[in-house]
Amino acid sequence: MDHLYISSTLSKEEKYVSLLPQLKGLLEGEDDMIANFANISAALKQSFNFFWVGFYIVKKEELVLGPFQGTIACTRIKYGKGVCGTAWKEKRTVIVEDVNQFPGHIACDAASQSEIVVPVFDHRNDIVAVLDIDSEYLSHFDETDALYLQEIIKLLEQKICI
Ligand code: SME
Repeated sequence: MDHLYISSTLSKEEKYVSLLPQLKGLLEGEDDMIANFANISAALKQSFNFFWVGFYIVKKEELVLGPFQGTIACTRIKYGKGVCGTAWKEKRTVIVEDVNQFPGHIACDAASQSEIVVPVFDHRNDIVAVLDIDSEYLSHFDETDALYLQEIIKLLEQKICI
């Protein structure tokens, strides 16, 4: 598969429904985690034109910047810090409607107003990475995003045999 087909006239939920089987096909042929992080970032950027979308990868006591689409970003985030570190520590998806109201939010770009972070688990239930998506609009993310992004991450988790 070398093209993604997502009609711009679809609703958000329809876009996710259309994207899922295409991403499944894309991931099926590739075992490399970085390659898959890169293509998922690109597919989400292309489908939704999010301000920033990418992965932070767990390395020892920190999250380190991985493949992403968007403006340059902070390279390292400590356990429990910011929205990404909170999702890692609390082992859950975190939705922030207004990043300015989130204590400890790490502002990589002042344009970012709302954010969603979805953890990526290995088969031992340890977090190996997080998917971080930022929007320049307030309250951009809701339970629909959480549900479908978790489905996308599940496709990825099936490939992770660490
Ligand atoms: N805002 C994030 C940091 C990463 S950037 O948004 C790309 C956080 O608070 O964890």
